[in-house]
Amino acid sequence: MTVHFIGAGPGAADLITLRGRDLIAACPVCLYAGSLVPEALLSHCPPGARIVNTAPLSLDQIIDEIASAHAAGHDVARLHSGDLSVWSAMGEQLRRLRAKGIPFEITPGVPSFAAAAAALQSELTLPGIAQSVVLTRTPGRASAMPPGETLTGFAATGATLAIHLSIHALARVVADLIPHYGPDCPVAVVWRASWPDQRVIRSTLARIEAEAEDIDRTALILVGPALAAEGFDDSRLYAADYDRRYRPTGPNPRFPE
Ligand SMILES: C[S@@+](CC[C@H](N)C(=O)[O-])C[C@H]1O[C@@H](n2cnc3c(N)ncnc32)[C@H](O)[C@@H]1O
Repeated sequence: MTVHFIGAGPGAADLITLRGRDLIAACPVCLYAGSLVPEALLSHCPPGARIVNTAPLSLDQIIDEIASAHAAGHDVARLHSGDLSVWSAMGEQLRRLRAKGIPFEITPGVPSFAAAAAALQSELTLPGIAQSVVLTRTPGRASAMPPGETLTGFAATGATLAIHLSIHALARVVADLIPHYGPDCPVAVVWRASWPDQRVIRSTLARIEAEAEDIDRTALILVGPALAAEGFDDSRLYAADYDRRYRPTGPNPRFPE
């Protein structure tokens, strides 16, 4: 018996890996994390599967569900939105499963920041403009931020920021970022990226609050000059004179064929 933690993707039912879909189809038990996991994914469950929405459950109740499946020898598909490596609450479940000796595997998913970048038709790392993406959030009711992880600290780097779980604190985000990025810095709010009702609002730090005032909950705030840059250099990777393993060039190629 194995618990399969599966990244369910950002919302569109077909933005799940083939492996994730096949695992859902093979597991007689499916636990899914509430409103952010598209219900359409549950149609992959086999007939008669036990399907449980874990949104109203406590961690103990979720672990009890898994332990019952383990005792019955039933594999479990455990679905969380986006990818499991960020803000999935997977870590605390894995710790309990390790303590109980219940085996698990992890299948990654498409994270929401990638779906938001796709909606914006943007590359978040552009040569000479930004070469880092910071996945972060602001403090929430259930989660304080470690003291070193401040928005102003990340802003000082000038990197592209993908700010999760923070649309309700947009005014605070703007106030923290303007001193570093300036009022004209491009910002985008992407609401329900990849869902049929997805919304994209492009603006500047100075104007975004007014333009996104009706947006709440499932939204990402993306900030940084890469979002609107046109005057960036081409990457060297495809430059005609760039000597590389798969395209040796010049009189003394570094990787001769
Ligand atoms: C609990 S976190 C889950 C993150 C998820 N594990 C991931 O890989 O993106 C929820 C937050 O992720 C962001 N989010 C999740 N899905 C989204 C989507 N489809 N569009 C925009 N933001 C999304 C929002 O900031 C939301 O408040």
